[in-house]
Amino acid sequence: MESLISWITVLFVFALRLCAAQDPPQPFPPVDSYLSTTNILNHSSYVDSLDEPQWYLDNIPFVDFPDSAIQDVYYYRASVIKRHLKFAHEGHGWSFTEFIHPVAWASKLQTIPDSAPHHMVECRWLRNPNFVKDLIQLYTRAGVEAISGISYTHYNHRAIYEAAQALGDTTFLTSQLYGMIDSYNLWNATIDNTTHLYHRTPLSDAQEFSLPGYVTGGPNGGPVQYWESFDNDYNTIWLGPETYRPNFNSYMVAGARAIATVAQLAGNTSLAQEWNQYGDGLYSRMLDMLYDNDLQFWIDVVEGTNLPVVGRELIGYFPYRFDVGTGTNMIRGLEAGLNEHEFITQYGPTTLEQTNPYYTALKNVTYCCIWQGQSWPFSTSVYLGTLARLARNNLSSIATPQLFYQAMETYALTNYKDNIPYTAESHYPTINEWSGDTTNHSEHYFHSTYFDNVFTNLIGIIPTLDNRIELRPLVPSNWSYFAVENLPYHGSLISLLWDSTGTHY
Ligand SMILES: *[C@@H]1O[C@H](CO)[C@@H](O)[C@H](O)[C@H]1NC(C)=O
Ligand SMILES: *[C@@H]1O[C@H](CO)[C@@H](O)[C@H](O)[C@H]1NC(C)=O
Ligand SMILES: *[C@@H]1O[C@H](CO)[C@@H](O)[C@H](O)[C@H]1NC(C)=O
Ligand SMILES: *[C@@H]1O[C@H](CO)[C@@H](O)[C@H](O)[C@H]1NC(C)=O
Ligand SMILES: *[C@@H]1O[C@H](CO)[C@@H](O)[C@H](O)[C@H]1NC(C)=O
Ligand SMILES: *[C@@H]1O[C@H](CO)[C@@H](O)[C@H](O)[C@H]1NC(C)=O
Ligand SMILES: *[C@@H]1O[C@H](CO)[C@@H](O)[C@H](O)[C@H]1NC(C)=O
Ligand SMILES: *[C@@H]1O[C@H](CO)[C@@H](O)[C@H](O)[C@H]1NC(C)=O
Repeated sequence: MESLISWITVLFVFALRLCAAQDPPQPFPPVDSYLSTTNILNHSSYVDSLDEPQWYLDNIPFVDFPDSAIQDVYYYRASVIKRHLKFAHEGHGWSFTEFIHPVAWASKLQTIPDSAPHHMVECRWLRNPNFVKDLIQLYTRAGVEAISGISYTHYNHRAIYEAAQALGDTTFLTSQLYGMIDSYNLWNATIDNTTHLYHRTPLSDAQEFSLPGYVTGGPNGGPVQYWESFDNDYNTIWLGPETYRPNFNSYMVAGARAIATVAQLAGNTSLAQEWNQYGDGLYSRMLDMLYDNDLQFWIDVVEGTNLPVVGRELIGYFPYRFDVGTGTNMIRGLEAGLNEHEFITQYGPTTLEQTNPYYTALKNVTYCCIWQGQSWPFSTSVYLGTLARLARNNLSSIATPQLFYQAMETYALTNYKDNIPYTAESHYPTINEWSGDTTNHSEHYFHSTYFDNVFTNLIGIIPTLDNRIELRPLVPSNWSYFAVENLPYHGSLISLLWDSTGTHY
């Protein structure tokens, strides 16, 4: 059965209906007031109950979906974005925080590098392009990591490119070239000079209590045998050893390739070649050391000892999201984890395969952040990007549009607390409850994407720097209607309607 609504049949409405009857008059003109908007949906009705509805009317695309969870979480996540958006001051402009309450480990302006790329790809869908441009420049103008030192890993370089693909702003992108290179090179300090791969402790990869810590934190630096034992090194279990992680190395491959693309756009072919070669070389080193051919899966390898950490962690799904490791055999390996015995649970995916001896569904320490099974929106939002890429290109009989949609629905349902949309840090993978949710700390945690999964994955708007729009929806065939209104794309506002009976809108 045809499960995809062909993009050809999706009805485009480019500012066709200009009946401004519904929205209240704007007290101040929004930043893009020179553009034509449509008023097909009743915008106020979605945001009336939110604080300062005018902000939403001016800044977000409006959506109308038959799936109430996916829709309700969308408007809630709009409020998450707004809660974290800060105007620093003239000079820095806008930025986004990861926590609402300031934390000691944040960098300048309470930005934290590991959440910055999520903010970039998420907020490329807001109508004011300065939000995301200012955040990008906080990093490319050496405002954060060059001052305080590199800390957490991130995919900023790729995210800068992805943001520009939605903005359609090549001039802005090429103006970031040298800032991207300089910030990329700060990571040289984490290259091992024998393997030439990047390494970091799982803690500095924003994923403490990960599998590498469990296989090196036990007696004599070996695997943990019993959780309560004087022979365990709990510090190592927590931080993890310096590890070559496939997600981190794929961020660096994708980042080098993004720099190459930007250099090419800037007309510097030799520089583009240099960065493509660097990215390809790094990829081949990843493939040699971090790909387990028996498991057909990306694994962690401990730096120094080169100990392979055999087992599937959800980070093995990350490279594909960044177009790294896209071979057919690799897809077969990704498929092998996509079932209820491995990663898929009611509030999953789990961050460690359930068959792993170190997996635990119940977090039994008070510490916030455990990555041996808990469901983390950070990881889920990246994983959804991988599933969407496989599904929309019909590359798998397992990662199908139906499987993607189930995963998207699961993600939406995970973003609830007491039947009200809500995002905290981590969620029990099998129980309807957040596991990392500290008062005055975890509320409305912004370390994941949701808008981007809706627009790029579910609705299938594939941003490109070319002067065109590509649509590959993964919307289920029984959605008889849906609408996306006033979505910023390449300096225009786009409205998209699907109405199979022609009576809904
Ligand atoms: C739009 O929704 C608002 C809030 O729910 C309501 O007050 C208003 O009457 C609606 N407007 C129209 C034209 O239906
Ligand atoms: C990082 O390594 C690259 C490639 O070897 C080199 O060109 C660059 O100068 C280095 N950057 C820093 C900051 O050390
Ligand atoms: C490799 O790095 C280590 C520590 O960073 C340093 O002590 C050593 O001299 C380096 N080796 C080479 C061959 O550069
Ligand atoms: C390309 O970039 C390199 C490195 O920054 C620079 O030395 C060279 O002049 C650039 N070439 C062109 C044609 O802009
Ligand atoms: C929780 O308890 C289980 C079973 O005792 C153990 O395997 C697991 O490692 C413990 N928690 C953490 C944080 O590791
Ligand atoms: C997807 O691929 C399968 C197997 O290659 C093929 O039979 C099927 O027709 C394809 N479906 C679509 C929608 O292209
Ligand atoms: C949370 O913060 C509020 C406002 O500062 C304070 O009144 C409240 O006691 C705090 N709650 C806890 C559990 O710390
Ligand atoms: C579409 O089908 C799914 C699965 O059969 C069902 O759960 C869902 O409620 C249906 N949605 C609509 C809008 O009919």
